[in-house]
Amino acid sequence: MSVLEVTSELYAEAEFCSTDTGNGNAISKFTFVYPNRRETDANGTPTGQPNGMDKRTNGLPETGKEKTPSIKDPDEESFIEEQSYESDYDDDSVCEEEEIESENECCQTSDQSVASPVPPIKLDKDGDLDVERQRKGAIEIEHRKSTRLDLVGLQIWRGALLLADYIMHNERKFKNAHILELGSGVGLTSIVASMYAREVICTDIDIGGLLDLIRGNVQRNAHLSNPHCRVHVTELDFKASYQDYPRELKDKLQHVQYVVAADVIYDDDITEAFVRTIVSLLLELPKLKAIYIALEKRYVFTLEDMDSVAPCYDYFLRYFQKRNSRFGVNRWKLINVCMNFPRYFDYDKVKDLVLLKICHASSK
Ligand SMILES: C[S@@+](CC[C@H](N)C(=O)[O-])C[C@H]1O[C@@H](n2cnc3c(N)ncnc32)[C@H](O)[C@@H]1O
Repeated sequence: MSVLEVTSELYAEAEFCSTDTGNGNAISKFTFVYPNRRETDANGTPTGQPNGMDKRTNGLPETGKEKTPSIKDPDEESFIEEQSYESDYDDDSVCEEEEIESENECCQTSDQSVASPVPPIKLDKDGDLDVERQRKGAIEIEHRKSTRLDLVGLQIWRGALLLADYIMHNERKFKNAHILELGSGVGLTSIVASMYAREVICTDIDIGGLLDLIRGNVQRNAHLSNPHCRVHVTELDFKASYQDYPRELKDKLQHVQYVVAADVIYDDDITEAFVRTIVSLLLELPKLKAIYIALEKRYVFTLEDMDSVAPCYDYFLRYFQKRNSRFGVNRWKLINVCMNFPRYFDYDKVKDLVLLKICHASSK
């Protein structure tokens, strides 16, 4: 029987300066530019522009109404799900108020021409033009370049970079926070989180030496973390129930404010276990403010639908909604986060990438 090998699309679109380690892995450099916080004058008026690599049109805000995900079984239950889903997924909330408020850059067009005045020309003390240079960094990650489907965590996927961009862009939100990452893969997003957070719990299943690989990557990039941050690497299997988590993990989870996960929606069995996990976390973690999920919709054309559909994404939405409306009312809301924050990493921010936020229905 042939074993299907899969390769992350990410590797085809940028040079990551990889060297082979000889054990089937590669060490690649994921370069990024540090967010250049906009300077303001005494009145709070911006005097410069935020940086980032995002000059591509896919950083522009979506203007059209988001296509309602197709529900493949039009039975009564799914119909109700579709309706309630639509109300939470209203395009008006595509740009979260919270994001707009906390980070003014969020809803500008990518050429920054709407809200930013032309930055004043600055001269240095010799009268030469003072060019503001972008501060660059690099994360070195040991990973595989292709794997069997059950070992995809050994590779890096676009969602990890999207989530990393979001964290970098919302530095203030994540500063000194306690963050849990689910399905971390080789740990890139957790390493970025550790640049700002107080505590990062980086989790995945312990398969193919994955947790040791994460530990090595955390160590390799320790110089990037903020010195106050503690990073823990531990197993958290979506298929385990919350009650069976080790005591030590449960104790740490009590402090968690943000849960993040990238690209964990690709197999319906795993999706169901993932949804059960986040529902438990929403119910059990007293300080949890939001869960951020980055994913790629991955459209396919099916003869059955005679249309392009994103089956894994649709399944996730349906299954989550089923759990959400279990007691007749939606306990949580699912928001499509505005995607036009800058790209700090080098990758193709394809249109199918989305960032979802789940939080308590009552939260602002
Ligand atoms: C496509 S990879 C994404 C990895 C990483 N987040 C990224 O974006 O590069 C999917 C991740 O989900 C993890 N995963 C699969 N089944 C899981 C389970 N039952 N519990 C926890 N994580 C799981 C995999 O090990 C893998 O790390």
